[in-house]
Amino acid sequence: MTPSKTIYILNGPNLNLLGQRQPEIYGTNTLADVERNCAAVATEKGFDVRLFQSNHEGVLIDTIHEARQKACGIVINAGAFTHTSVAILDALNTFEGPVMECHISNVHKREVFRHHSYISLRADGVLVGLGVEGYALATRRICSILSA
Ligand code: DQA
Repeated sequence: MTPSKTIYILNGPNLNLLGQRQPEIYGTNTLADVERNCAAVATEKGFDVRLFQSNHEGVLIDTIHEARQKACGIVINAGAFTHTSVAILDALNTFEGPVMECHISNVHKREVFRHHSYISLRADGVLVGLGVEGYALATRRICSILSA
């Protein structure tokens, strides 16, 4: 099988509302903007992206399982599941490529329950508080890890 050149950009609950939801925290860019920005970075480096969003934990886990065969790297903003989901951590632990964790807001400046991340136990890097630019930077980092 030809090795995949596709980076999965996975988004958890409520991120479908990006651009409308609490813009004072998350800004006015949408997931379509995120996809465009990540695709631009990836294309430049010879990769492509697939952006996916679900409000359902099991669907995100199924998509991580799919990534095992179909993706070379994962950028994940698991939303609130970041702080609660051992099951998403376990799924990420079955994935062999680089994983970047991304949060639009600076979770460390917010409520204490947002300070802990299960995903960070697996992530190769964490981008926090860089707005939607964090996704493109995370994509760039995956490209450089895989091109090294
Ligand atoms: C978030 C931070 C989480 O605490 C929150 O539940 C989200 C978004 C972020 O991108 O800043 O849904 O992951």
